[in-house]
Amino acid sequence: MSNNIVVAIDGYSSCGKSTLAKALAKNLHFVYVDSGAMYRAVALYFLRNKIDLNDHGQVNDALKKIHLNFHARDYETHITLNDEEVSAEIRQMPVSESVSAVSAIHEVRHEMVKQQQRMGRSKNIVMDGRDIGTAVFPDATVKFFMTADPITRAERRYKELLPKNPEITLQEVFENLAHRDYQDTTRKESPLVRAEDAIILDNTDLTPDEQLLFALSKVEPFL
Ligand code: DC
Repeated sequence: MSNNIVVAIDGYSSCGKSTLAKALAKNLHFVYVDSGAMYRAVALYFLRNKIDLNDHGQVNDALKKIHLNFHARDYETHITLNDEEVSAEIRQMPVSESVSAVSAIHEVRHEMVKQQQRMGRSKNIVMDGRDIGTAVFPDATVKFFMTADPITRAERRYKELLPKNPEITLQEVFENLAHRDYQDTTRKESPLVRAEDAIILDNTDLTPDEQLLFALSKVEPFL
């Protein structure tokens, strides 16, 4: 049995999971793993190569050709897809619009979960996503389930996207989030649900510093 610490952070899209995960990892000197970035990179590959999501043969062949790597330069997400840095491109709308469908595919999840479990086998890590406390690390040391008011979430994401997408509207962002919430919570494969032993963190009215202090207080007993 390994005794490394795993902090699992799950929750809806744009709830501030990655903000908290990065801050926690930085504070505790843990490795940060953005599992959503992995699904996004797979979605990008599928888009570029026009993979038919209903064709299992095509999906399986494509998965064999995809090599993902995280580069731990700082506590930001730096992910490469077959050695190409794609961290910015995976945040753009075409990927955001297709990633839920890609992440609902059994073969895709199976492969990603395997890689994620490998990353958490020996190091202290903070991993954020949708199924980290339920499917990837059911025995995680500490689990958080994050939530926030949907309008607040859309406004946060809109502000983030606007500098690079001046055409984008708040309504579009709101609809994309609502659509992803629906797909993430109703899919057959590992739907987004709160693990029974996850600590609920509603950050609608919390500053990033306040949520960090709260989360640290829950992890510190295990250090
Ligand atoms: O956290 P994010 O928005 O970057 O995630 C992108 C998509 O990937 C999101 O629609 C849900 C999916 N996802 C998932 O199914 N399981 C995870 N562990 C992480 C993300």
